[in-house]
Amino acid sequence: MNRLSTLLLSCAALAMSVPALAQQPIVIKFSHVVAVNTPKGKAAERFKQLGEERTKGRVRVEVYPNSTLFKDGEEMEALQLGSVQVLAPSVAKFGPLGVREFEVFDLPYVFDNFDELHKVTDGPAGKGLFQKLEAKGIIGLAYWDNGFKDFSANKSIKVPADYKGLKMRIQSSKVLGEEIKALGAIPQVMAFSEVYQALQTGVVNGTENPPSNFYTQKLHEVQKYLALSDHGVVEYAVIVNKKFWDGLPADIRTNLEGAMRDATKYANDIAKKENDDALEAVKKSGKTQIITLTPAERSEMKKALLVVHKENESRLGKDVIQQVYQATGFKP
Ligand code: LMR
Repeated sequence: MNRLSTLLLSCAALAMSVPALAQQPIVIKFSHVVAVNTPKGKAAERFKQLGEERTKGRVRVEVYPNSTLFKDGEEMEALQLGSVQVLAPSVAKFGPLGVREFEVFDLPYVFDNFDELHKVTDGPAGKGLFQKLEAKGIIGLAYWDNGFKDFSANKSIKVPADYKGLKMRIQSSKVLGEEIKALGAIPQVMAFSEVYQALQTGVVNGTENPPSNFYTQKLHEVQKYLALSDHGVVEYAVIVNKKFWDGLPADIRTNLEGAMRDATKYANDIAKKENDDALEAVKKSGKTQIITLTPAERSEMKKALLVVHKENESRLGKDVIQQVYQATGFKP
């Protein structure tokens, strides 16, 4: 074979490969800290499926669950640096980013049910909070539900006096710190990925989370009691790096926004059942005793925790608190 035909052949091979090179998919890394079989874990996979389908493969979504890529305390900076493109952290984790107003979601007993929660997430309060992220180079795309939190410990916990002196793991929220102190317990901020071991070794005695996180992190193996306190929520804000998102081709961004809308509907449709099923699984395990509070015990807990609202008025700002009270009909 002479040199000319060799040259022609390699040009042909190159020509064939150029379109493939040019069409490298846009990669979206989506990092989160929970297990796959949770409301957020499943919704992230749904966004991946819909995003890839609707962009006909021009986008590849890589989901990293269980803190496998970034853990609490690392995620936000990684997003701002562009090392990851999508996160869905709990709204209790925006304080360290300098947007403490998100902690309004952590005010004890401010939400009685998902409808009230959605009046905030789908209303002016939720939108207003997202606007505060723009200055941080972040865009808020959606709110995903998880569920109502329950306290757990290795002793029976029914009334505030039972919490005295307990070391309780919390998310990085000052409102949650006040909540734990109001029970006479000691708050300990800790990454989600470290909670199991910290409970196992006694670094902390208890914690708070919805059943879906409690069960999928196997906390029933290291917690003897779970009190169905429903004293607060775990809610997620799905956020993206602004530069990355604004830089996407318009048609791709439109398709991804549609995929996010449908993944959000899916997330919020499955959240309650995921938590109900997880609670059933905890019961079935026989490892953790479930405590159903009496109305008297519930009102004792509420009375002890409502002080947290007043204490945080100046720090969170009266406006956002009033907006949430208005939306939920909450009377302090
Ligand atoms: C927690 O840290 O307890 C939760 O925010 C984890 C999660 O993302 O649900």
